[in-house]
Amino acid sequence: MNQRDFPEDFIWGTATAAYQVEGAAYEDGKGKSIWNEFEKHPSAIVDNAVGDVASDQYHRYREDVALMRDAGMKAYRFSMSWSRVLPDGRGTVNRKGLDYYKRLCEELLRNGIEPYLTWYHWDLPLALQEEFGGWESRETVKYFGEYVGRIAKELDGLVKNFFTVNEFLACSDVGYGLGAIAPGLKLPKKRRNQVRHHLLLAHGTALQALRGVVPDAKAGLAENPSFLIPVIPVPEHIEAAKKAFREVNAHFITAVMEGKYPDCYLEREGADAPSFTEDDFKLIGAPMDFVGLNLYYGKPVRSAPETPEGYFIFNAETAASCTGIADFNFEPSAMYWGCRIVHELWHPKEILISENGMSANDRPSSGSEVYDPHRIKYLRAHLASLAGALREGYPVKGYFHWSLLDNLEWHLGFRPRFGLVYVNYATLERIPKMSWSWYKELIRTGKIE
Ligand code: BGC
Repeated sequence: MNQRDFPEDFIWGTATAAYQVEGAAYEDGKGKSIWNEFEKHPSAIVDNAVGDVASDQYHRYREDVALMRDAGMKAYRFSMSWSRVLPDGRGTVNRKGLDYYKRLCEELLRNGIEPYLTWYHWDLPLALQEEFGGWESRETVKYFGEYVGRIAKELDGLVKNFFTVNEFLACSDVGYGLGAIAPGLKLPKKRRNQVRHHLLLAHGTALQALRGVVPDAKAGLAENPSFLIPVIPVPEHIEAAKKAFREVNAHFITAVMEGKYPDCYLEREGADAPSFTEDDFKLIGAPMDFVGLNLYYGKPVRSAPETPEGYFIFNAETAASCTGIADFNFEPSAMYWGCRIVHELWHPKEILISENGMSANDRPSSGSEVYDPHRIKYLRAHLASLAGALREGYPVKGYFHWSLLDNLEWHLGFRPRFGLVYVNYATLERIPKMSWSWYKELIRTGKIE
C-alpha cells in the first residue's frame, strides 16, 4: 500500500528558457538576441507579442524560487541568455548580466533547489547572426565553446548540472529551414543540413569546454527525438519501433549517441548531406553523463515487412489531440517506450525527462482559482507511464515539467499557457494552478494516484 512509485531521491523540477520567461530584454547591458530582431517583423509572432517583459522572471526570481521551495521542488532547469552575459556573443563579459544568474543560482541553492543550466535555448546573440550567419558558420560554434568555458568558470561552482543545446530540430529546421522561428530563414536543404551539423558540433564543443573548467560537472543534451512506440507490445512491433526510432532520428540523437551519421541519413540526403570531419565526431560523440528527453508526443509504429525500411509510422493525427498544440498529440505511453527504447539502443548512464507538458487556455475562475483538471489528467497519465519505466529498472533520474509558469511560447505568443503556475500578464501576478497542487502532492508522496 505504501509502496512509492518514485524513489526518495528522484529529481523533481520544472523547466523554462530565458527568452520565454526573463523579460528585461534591454536591461543592465544585455545585447540583442535573434529573437529581439525576429519579433519586430509584423506577424512573426501571434498578436505581435514581444519578449520585453515576458513573465518578468528577471525581476521576480525570488518569488518564483519561493514557490518552488513551497512545492518541495528539488531542481530548476533554466537557460542562460548568451547575449545577456556576452552582449555580442564574445568579447567582454557583461558583469550585471552574469550577476543575475549568480543571484538566481544562489537563491535556488539557499532554498535547497539544484540549478540545471541550459547553455543554448534558441536565443543566439544577434551580432553572431549578422556577422557570421549564425549557426551556418563554424565561427559561431567556436564562440559558443568560448562562452561556455568562460562563463562556466565564472559561475564559481554554483552550477554542476548542464544541458548543452536544447532541441536541435527547432534551432535548425524550424529556424533556418521553415523560418517559423528566429532567425526566420528558409535556407535550401544543403545549408539547413550544415546548420544541423554545426549544432551537433556546438553540443560537443560545449561538453569539451565544460569538462576543462568544471571537472565534476554533469552534462548532457536536452533533445526531442520523434518518439516512436510499438503499436502493440509484441516483438515484431517493438523491433520495428526501435529501428524507426534510430533511423528517423538519425541526424540528431542517433548521431550523438553513436558518434557518427548512420548511413541511412547520408544516403537519404545524398548531395545535400553536410560536410564534416572525423574530428567533429570525436567531440559530438563524447560521453555524456545523462540524456535529457523533451517529450511532448508519440507516434505508433507497426512492423511492415512489405516496405524497404521494414516499419510503418502512423500519423499522429489519428490519435486524439488534447494538448493545445496541433503537433503534440496525447500519447502518454511515449514516456515508458521512450525511456526503454533509448536505453535498449544506447544504454546512456542516466535519463532525465528534461521537458514534458501541455498548454491550454487556462484562466482564473471568479474566485481566482485556476482549475486545470486537463493538465492533471495529462500529468497523471504521463507520470504513470514513467513510473512503469522506473519499475523495469531503466535509469530515469528526474523529471522537469514544462513549465514552471506561463510564458512566451515563441512564435505562438502568450496564448498557449504551459505553466503549473498561472501568470496574469497585466499585473505579472502568479497564481498556482490546481495542477501545481497535484504535482506538489506527488513530490511529497512519490506516488501516482
Ligand atoms: C521547447 C520549449 C517550448 C515547449 C512547448 C519545447 O520544444 O524546448 O521552449 O516552449 O517545447 O512548445
